[in-house]
Amino acid sequence: MNETTLSVAVDYKSEILKLKRQLNAVILAHYYQESEIQDIADFVGDSLELAKIAKSTKADVIVFAGVHFMAETAKILNPEKLVLLPDFDASCSLADGCPADKFKAFKELHPDHLAITYINSTAEVKALSDIICTSSSAEKIINQIPKEQPILFSPDRNLGKYLIKKTGRNMLLWDGSCIVHETFSERKIIELKNKFPDAKLISHPECEEAILVRSDYIGSTSKLLSFIKEDSSKQYIVATETGIIHQMKKAEPDKEFIPAPSEDEACVCNNCPYMKLNTMEKLYLCMKNKYPQIILDEDLRKKALLPIEKMILMS
Ligand code: 13P
Ligand code: SF4
Repeated sequence: MNETTLSVAVDYKSEILKLKRQLNAVILAHYYQESEIQDIADFVGDSLELAKIAKSTKADVIVFAGVHFMAETAKILNPEKLVLLPDFDASCSLADGCPADKFKAFKELHPDHLAITYINSTAEVKALSDIICTSSSAEKIINQIPKEQPILFSPDRNLGKYLIKKTGRNMLLWDGSCIVHETFSERKIIELKNKFPDAKLISHPECEEAILVRSDYIGSTSKLLSFIKEDSSKQYIVATETGIIHQMKKAEPDKEFIPAPSEDEACVCNNCPYMKLNTMEKLYLCMKNKYPQIILDEDLRKKALLPIEKMILMS
């Protein structure tokens, strides 16, 4: 039997469930994972929710169906656990665009500033930060910082600009962005809104300002999901990664969810190329081989833990 025949023959769903029992594993999936992975997961959530579950789980193994910084955060919070990531190349443009040496230099230029850093960052950058935040917790955290304290916000300038507007704080921003959320086309969204005047535009705060100012609702993945459950509209234009639409359709099967378009028709730009590296086959293989796993230097882990714990306390 050749390799292709073999991979077709594996029933990934039942094999993954079998391995889950054998390993005493918990499968955590972010909303941007492909539908089958979301459906087999024990928990599906946003970055903050998944970090909290990773911290408190009693399972021996955490299988993190998400991107590298999420699995790394799980390991920082719960170092005794074996933390597996289906594809080790599942990174994030925000984390990649903020190298620790450059971030350190940025901080040194502004020694009186408090460094609030988005969770979409490496362990090295977290270790240099004062407080970590997620899109669902950032506003609450910033509002607890004394008004006279200057702030550096990294690495997402779009989320940073949005937070400046929401909190009235004049923060210094690192110039990074998400390659998925920056591709939405304002022109095409206006066209869609004209075509479907009753559709509400709902957006993740990583989107550019031009999209956010036209949005009827802005929030983290979990908050977008809660919004469509509570709201009475029947149609939504969804300006975030397409994976979330799976949960939206499950929650509200009679409503319509239109993925926000990008300028380039040929590009499926609203699929995160990193999140979508994970597949059922890789999920199965990482559990079978207990590889790839997150390994962290203990000194680095302890330094990165402090600002994450502050986030959990303040959110
Ligand atoms: P959430 O915390 O809203 O799930 O966002 C994570 C993310 O990577 C968005 O692109
Ligand atoms: Fe990173 Fe953007 Fe992908 Fe989220 S959607 S993981 S911010 S690249």
